[in-house]
Amino acid sequence: MNGAEISQPWWKGAIGYEVYVRSFSDANGDGVGDLKGVADRLDHIADLGADVIWLTPFYPSPMVDMGYDVSDYCGVDPLFGSLEDFDELIEAVRSHSLRLVIDLVPNHCSNRHMWFQAAIADPQGPYRDYFIWRDPGPDGGPPNNWVGYFGGSAWSLDPASGQYYLHLFLPEQPDLNWRNPAVVDEFDEIIRFWLDRGVDGFRVDVAQALVKDLELRDNPQVAPWVPDATRWEQWEAFEHRYDVNQIESLDLFARWRQIAAEYDAVIIGETYVLEPETLAQMLRGDGLDLGFWFKPMSIDIAAEEIREALRGPIEAVADPSMISFVISSHDEPRPPTRFGGGDLGRRRALMLSTLLFCLPGVPFLYQGEELGLVDGIVAEDRRADPVGADVSLSRDGCRTPIPWEPGVSFGFSASEVTWLPDGGRTDADTAKVQRSDDRSWLARYRALVALRRREPELVDGPVVWLDHDNPALVAFRRGTVVVVANTGDDRGAVGWSGDVLYSTVGLGGSVSSSTELEPASTIVIRISN
Ligand code: GLC
Repeated sequence: MNGAEISQPWWKGAIGYEVYVRSFSDANGDGVGDLKGVADRLDHIADLGADVIWLTPFYPSPMVDMGYDVSDYCGVDPLFGSLEDFDELIEAVRSHSLRLVIDLVPNHCSNRHMWFQAAIADPQGPYRDYFIWRDPGPDGGPPNNWVGYFGGSAWSLDPASGQYYLHLFLPEQPDLNWRNPAVVDEFDEIIRFWLDRGVDGFRVDVAQALVKDLELRDNPQVAPWVPDATRWEQWEAFEHRYDVNQIESLDLFARWRQIAAEYDAVIIGETYVLEPETLAQMLRGDGLDLGFWFKPMSIDIAAEEIREALRGPIEAVADPSMISFVISSHDEPRPPTRFGGGDLGRRRALMLSTLLFCLPGVPFLYQGEELGLVDGIVAEDRRADPVGADVSLSRDGCRTPIPWEPGVSFGFSASEVTWLPDGGRTDADTAKVQRSDDRSWLARYRALVALRRREPELVDGPVVWLDHDNPALVAFRRGTVVVVANTGDDRGAVGWSGDVLYSTVGLGGSVSSSTELEPASTIVIRISN
C-alpha cells in the first residue's frame, strides 16, 4: 500500500430520499401514513437506488404544524405507531442496506410540551428560561420588530405574567432559549436517545435560527411591513441580522457533531438560507456534515438563473461535497407544478435534477418526485396546513398521499378517507404502473440515480463550467463527463461529442457536437476529445 488510506464518511456522495411520514404509506388503515407503512415500502426506496432516508417528525405532537410542534422528543405519536414500530423500522432499514436519518426539531417545541407548560405555570421556576421571554415594548406591544416565518409578529403575550414569548413560527411553537445550558443538555440526551436506538443521523430543522442575538435587537427594516401581505413578503421587509444566522449556532453544531461521531452518524442542517456565503459560513469548522441548499427550489427555468443557483454554493463552500442540493420538499410546490405543470413541468424538473445529480454533494429526492408527481389538488375545505390560507402558499399540494397502485386511495391506505385527499391522481401516476414501463418517470429517475452511483467522477473532483454560444444551454464538466442542459424552448446543438451515459429523454449511443438536444432536456456524455 502506498501511504495511509484516507477513509471517507459513509455519506460522501450518497443519495438521500425524504419520507414525509403522514403521506408515504398507511399500514393501519386510519388514513394517515405511519412507521409500519414506511417499513412496508422500503423496497421502493432501495430499488430506486437511494442510500439514506430522512424521516419527517413522528414524535408525540398536537400536530398544529403537522408534527413540527413536538411535545415529547423521545417518543412516537400513536398516530404513527410506537417505539417498538420504530425499532422494527430500523431493523427493516438495515436489512435493505439503507440508512435512517430522523428530524431533530431544536428551534422550538410545542406549547403543549411539559417544558412550556411548566414555564407558563411557574414564571420563577427552572423551565421559564427554557424559552425567550421579554417585557412588552414601551408602547405595550411586542418587545422588538421581529416577524415570524409564517407572518405576523414573532411574539405572543402570556396574559398571566404580562410577558411576551418568542416564536419564529406559530404561537404554538415557542422558540427554545439556546443560551440556556440546560436546553443544551436536554438535547444532548435526546440525540443520544435516538443514536442509541440505531439512527444514522439527524436532519436539523431550521438550523439557521437556533441561537438568537443576545440583546434581541430590532432587525433593520428594508421595506414597509404590511401585516396582511404574504408571509414571505412580510419576512423580506426586514434584514435578518439579529434573529437568524447567528454565528453562535456553530458551537451547537460542533457539539452535536462530536456526539454523532461516536456513532458514525451524520448531522445535516436544514440551512434555510439563500446566499451562498451564508451557507458557506454555516458549513465552516467542525459542525454540520451537510447543509441543504434551497435556492434551486425558488428559481425559474432560465439558464442564467440555474447556472447561478448551482455555481454560487459550489464556489463559496470550501468543500462542496457537503452540499445537499434539493429542488423539492414537503414545504414547497412540487417542481413539475412550479415549472409549468404537465409533461413540460416534469421534463424541466428532471432536466434540473440531472444537473444536481451530476454535482458534488448529497442530493435528496422528495417522495413522489421520482414519479414525476405534480401538486395534488386540495379543495379549500380539505386544507390542513396552518399556513395555507392562501392556496399559492399552502404546503398541502406537495403533501398529498403517494399513489402506489391503482385502487382504493391508490394503495396508500385501505381507507377511502385519507388525511389529505389523493389530490386527483391517475393510475399512470402510480409506482406500480410506472415500474412496468421503461419510459416512465420512475424509470428515468432510477436510471439517473444509477448513473450517479456508477460514475465516481460525478462525486469527486472539480466542477468546470463550460461556455457555449447558445445562451439557453447550461453545461459543465466533471473529469471526462460533460453535462449539458437545454433550458430553452428550441432544439439546440449539444456542442460536445461522446458516448451518451444518460439522457432525460432517452437518447442513446453517441452524439456529435452538432446533435440536437431537445428543449427541456439534459444529456450526460463521456467526451471523446
Ligand atoms: C421546517 C419544516 C417545516 C416546518 C418548519 C417549522 O422548515 O420543514 O415543515 O413548518 O420547519 O418547524
